Formats: sequence, C-alpha cells, structure tokens
Amino acid sequence: MRKKIVAGNWKMNTTLGEGVGLAKDVNEALKNATPKCDVIICVPFTHLAPVNDVIDQNKLGLGAENCADHVKGAYTGEISAEMVASTGAKYVILGHSERRQYYGETSETLKEKVNLALANNLTPIFCIGEVLEERENGTYHDVVKNQIVEALFDLSAEDFGKIILAYEPVWAIGTGKTATDDQAEEIHAYIRGVIADKYGKEVADNTSILYGGSCKPSNAAQLFAKPNVDGGLIGGAALDAQSFMGIVNAF
Ligand code: 13P
Repeated sequence: MRKKIVAGNWKMNTTLGEGVGLAKDVNEALKNATPKCDVIICVPFTHLAPVNDVIDQNKLGLGAENCADHVKGAYTGEISAEMVASTGAKYVILGHSERRQYYGETSETLKEKVNLALANNLTPIFCIGEVLEERENGTYHDVVKNQIVEALFDLSAEDFGKIILAYEPVWAIGTGKTATDDQAEEIHAYIRGVIADKYGKEVADNTSILYGGSCKPSNAAQLFAKPNVDGGLIGGAALDAQSFMGIVNAF
C-alpha cells in the first residue's frame, strides 16, 4: 500500500536558529500524536545536521531541497547527495519548479541527481507540474508526462518504487490559487496511469503522489480526500508549526 505523506519544503527561509526552533516545535507537536500519515520536513542544507540533532526521525523525517548532479570534486558551492546523506537526512526534493525555472535544471541533470540520490539511499521527492499557459492551452498532460518519462523512466521498477512524486502546478505555488480537488484528482489519476503503462498497476498503485501549491489547513482535507492524492508538499504553510500540523491532521 502506498504511503500517505505530508512534507514541508521550507525553501530559502529561516535562519539557522529559527529553523532549529521550527523543527523542535514540529517534533514536539508530533511527540504525543499519532498522525495518519508520514511527516517530513525538507530544510536548507545549512540546517540539516543541527535539525537532525533535535528531531526524532522515527516520527519526523528529514530531507534536503536539492543535491548536486555530480558525485564529488571541483564544483564550488555544490552539495552532493553523499554529503546530504551524511547529515542524517533521508529524503531530497528534486526537480522543484523553482529549480527548473531559476537555475535551469533539465531532465538530463535531474536524471543524474535522481541516480545519485538513490545511490546514497536518499528517497527523492520528485516534482513535476505545468505552468499556467500549459494548463490553459490544454498541453499539461503531455508536459507532466514528459517530465516523468525523461527523468525517471530509465529506472528499474525496483528503483522507481523508491520515488515519491509531487505534482505541483506552477500557477498554484505561492499564489494562493490552489488547484481544486477535482483538478488535482484528474491529473494525479492521469499520472498514475502513465506509471501503470510503464511499470504495471502494482508499482503505480504503490507510488505516493503528493499535491503541492497553496495547500493549507483550510483546503488540505478536501484535497487529501481524493483517492489519487496521497498527501501534500507544503511551502508557505510549513513555516508555522501550527499550520503545518493543521495540514498533517487533515488526514
Ligand atoms: P506553497 O505551499 O507556498 O504554495 O509552495 C508549494 C511548494 O512549492 C512546495 O514545494
């Protein structure tokens, strides 16, 4: 059975002190809770090791927001998958639309990143999603399919089974404009079909597909009630422990 997951993506927010404090607050809130989903926080590189020290990863998983597309060496300023894993992190967000848009990430580089993440026992949270124009001109199915095929479909079924997908329509990220639950369900079901065509129904049924884009406590329950929406990747609302827990408790 596929997992239900709520994951926070802190993006480029919080100083180290603020981030450790936020992680402690979420960890504390989960201590005596029995959420109906796995809970993960993905934090800036600088925060990984200190956050790992203050959380119980049996209750709160830790991830990075990116990793390099090379193993190691002369790549000034880059952080490798091995370095991420050495902090205690277990997950890594890859292919976020902000990385594709602002840092020129392509399916080719993402393929390398996915391979390196898996080689270092990190679970990729792989992001896909269309821009507004592609939603409006009706090409969004192809856009999302190509993003999956190009970066992931060279994986064996076993390795594909380790991936968490996050569908994040770019027009809904940070805009307050959430996809409706029906819009999310329609594209999530399509994505599951694409996976089934390649890897078979069992792999498709076991793949967690998260929704991301202006997800908040007030709309999470409706989105998560849809059969093909297995949870959320949360930006802004993950920066406040109470609102993040409000989304976790939407399950
Ligand atoms: P918001 O929840 O702030 O819209 O961000 C979504 C996102 O990009 C998560 O990765």
